[in-house]
Amino acid sequence: MNYIIMGLPGAGKGTQAKKIVEGFGLVHLSTGDMFRQAKKSDEVISKLLASGQLVPDDIVIDMIKNRLAKGNLKNGFLLDGFPRTVKQAEELDLMLKVENMKIAAVFFVDVCFDEAIKRIVGRRVCTCGASYHVDFIPPKIEGKCDICGKDLIQRDDDKEDVVKNRLEVYEKQTRPLIDYYKKTKLFVNIDGSKNEKEIFNQISRLMIVNKITVKNTGCLLCYFA
Ligand code: AP5
Repeated sequence: MNYIIMGLPGAGKGTQAKKIVEGFGLVHLSTGDMFRQAKKSDEVISKLLASGQLVPDDIVIDMIKNRLAKGNLKNGFLLDGFPRTVKQAEELDLMLKVENMKIAAVFFVDVCFDEAIKRIVGRRVCTCGASYHVDFIPPKIEGKCDICGKDLIQRDDDKEDVVKNRLEVYEKQTRPLIDYYKKTKLFVNIDGSKNEKEIFNQISRLMIVNKITVKNTGCLLCYFA
């Protein structure tokens, strides 16, 4: 089964995505992670990320197209951070058709702006990939990664002025996707105001039901209708 996780910047998509792919053996396709890797050698990408702007659609679409064509996704995948514009969603539909693949559900992690801002400004990350929050998910030793012991850092785009820009970009370019996916009946609203574990329980419960029923019902929402 293949899934999409979406929501405001800082909603907790990445946190849930890590748990979901581990729990369900899926491949994590995070465009944010891919671009954070790419920015090390690409100044244009680096500037776009630092300012909170989106990378142009054609670059993102090509990247995902290549990844889907590469294969090794038999057990399913979770798209995190893609699609982010209606154009990207339309192109994804075409790509999936070519690859004979389907999306089983789109999980929308629903949080309010204030909560998203709190989560972003308190986020601290490690170069090993681990992520924490100074208040909500603190490391055992302040400022140090629990896994590798390195110093934790704040992402460039988590500084307050850039966060404001990211939220504006989201409102203009990404929010229309909610209606796009509501029309397909794949859209599932997840209460993102809960803690990490409760959110994972909501999503995993739906995925377990989905695994059993999707062949008969065609989509997750039909099962709960
Ligand atoms: P991306 O990395 O996708 O950024 P984002 O969507 O802004 O999402 P974040 O990574 O900021 O937040 P998240 O929802 O994953 O939250 P997290 O789990 O970390 O993209 C970065 C950039 O790349 C974009 O700005 C753009 O430039 C470019 N890009 C990427 N994809 C693109 C695309 N398709 N098209 C064009 N450009 C693209 O959690 C946040 C914090 O909250 C953490 O500290 C966490 O510990 C904490 N937390 C998590 N869950 C909870 C909880 N339940 N309760 C309390 N705290 C929590």
